[in-house]
Amino acid sequence: MDATLWVKLIVSIPGVLAILYYSEAQILPNFLESSTSHKNYNSEDITIFENGKFEVTKPIEVEKSKFSAPEPLLVVSPYQPGLYPILLFVHGTLISNEDYSDLFQRIVSHGFIVVAPKLFSIFNFPSEEDEIEMVVSVANWLPSNLQDVLHERVGEGVEGDLNKLAISGHSRGGKSAFGVTLGLSKTKLTVNISALIGVDPVAGSNKNDRTQPHVLTYVPNSFNLSIPVTIIGTGLGNQTNFLLPPCAPNYVNHQEFYVECKESSHFVILKYGHMQMLNDYVDPIASYVSLVCESGDGLKSTMRRTVSGIMVAFLDAYFGDDGGRQYFAILANPSLTPTRVYVEKKGNFGLPRNHYAQV
Ligand SMILES: *[C@@H]1O[C@H](CO)[C@@H](O)[C@H](O)[C@H]1NC(C)=O
Ligand SMILES: *[C@@H]1O[C@H](CO)[C@@H](O)[C@H](O)[C@H]1NC(C)=O
Ligand SMILES: *[C@@H]1O[C@H](CO)[C@@H](O)[C@H](O)[C@H]1NC(C)=O
Repeated sequence: MDATLWVKLIVSIPGVLAILYYSEAQILPNFLESSTSHKNYNSEDITIFENGKFEVTKPIEVEKSKFSAPEPLLVVSPYQPGLYPILLFVHGTLISNEDYSDLFQRIVSHGFIVVAPKLFSIFNFPSEEDEIEMVVSVANWLPSNLQDVLHERVGEGVEGDLNKLAISGHSRGGKSAFGVTLGLSKTKLTVNISALIGVDPVAGSNKNDRTQPHVLTYVPNSFNLSIPVTIIGTGLGNQTNFLLPPCAPNYVNHQEFYVECKESSHFVILKYGHMQMLNDYVDPIASYVSLVCESGDGLKSTMRRTVSGIMVAFLDAYFGDDGGRQYFAILANPSLTPTRVYVEKKGNFGLPRNHYAQV
C-alpha cells in the first residue's frame, strides 16, 4: 500500500495496536490445514508448495555497514555447500523484512539465497525514488560482499550465483522492483537482473496519486523488459475494509502491472488479501496495516505456501533444471495450487514453445 494512504490510516485509528498485535494468531490447528489443502493430484509431481529438501539458516541479520552493507539486510541461505540463485526481495511500506521470514525460508528450502534489505527506520522513511536508489545500492553490493557474509555466517562452499539474480518485492516494494528493472534509478545497476516477480505490487493510492517515479504508463504492453516476469496478485487487495480505501486499489495494482508487461504470467490468489503472505506473528505496525487491509478467512500459512510455491516454480523454470515442468503444470492447471488461483499469461519469454503449447 502507498505511504501517504498509510499515514492517513495510521492517524485515523489510534490505540488499537496492542490488541492487534495478538489478532494475527492462527487459531486453527494444523491438521485442518492439511485436510483442507488436500488436492486431487499426485503430490510426488508437485513439490513446490511443500518445504524443499534444503536445510535453511535462520534469517541472518547484517547490520548497516557490516560487510560494507549499504542498508541493514537479512540473508537466508541453505547450509549445504552449493551454488544457488539469488532472490533480492523488497518489503512493502513500513513492513519489516523480518515479517516475511517464513516466506523466505520456504523459498530458500528449494535451493535459493534470499537477500532482503530493510529500507526504513523510525528516523528515516524514504521516498519511492530514494527507495529505488537504495535497492540498486544493495544489488550492486552483492558481487563483492555477499560471498563474505555466506562464508562467515553460513559456511564454506555456500555461494550465490550472480548469473541467476532475480528481484522481487511486495506492495510498494513490488513497484520498486519494477522501477529498478526498468532502469529508473540514477545510480547505475552494475549487476544483471535476470527475472522479476511482483508480489501484489502497488503504485500509489490511486491512478492520479502515484508515487514518483511513475512506473505505470497506462499503455498496455509498454514495459520495456526483456527478462521473464511474473505477477502474483491478491483477489481481496482491491476490496474496501471498514469503509477505508483498499490497500491495493484498482488501476494501481497487480492487474495494471500485468497489462503493461509485454510478456508475463499473472496469478491471482482469489481468497486472500494484500498482507496475508506475512508471518503469522508480525510487528505491531504490520499488524495494524494487516487489520486495515481486507483479508480472507484462510490460514496465512496456506497463502505463504501458495506465494512461495509460485515463486519457486517460476524461478526454477528459468534457473533450475526442471525445464519449467511445475511452472507449466500450475499455469495449465491452477487447481494444483493449495488455494484458489486465477491464472493468465501472455508471451513465452524464451521458454521452449512445446512447453507453452501444452498450456
Ligand atoms: C550482463 O550481461 C551482459 C550480456 O549478457 C554481459 O555482457 C555482462 O558481462 C553481464 N554483466 C555482469 C556484471 O555479469
Ligand atoms: C528497450 O530497452 C532496450 C535495452 O534494453 C533499448 O535498446 C531499447 O531502445 C528500448 N526500447 C524502448 C522503446 O525504449
Ligand atoms: C477487483 O479486481 C478484479 C480484477 O482483478 C475485478 O474483477 C473486481 O471487480 C475488482 N473488485 C472491486 C471491488 O473493484
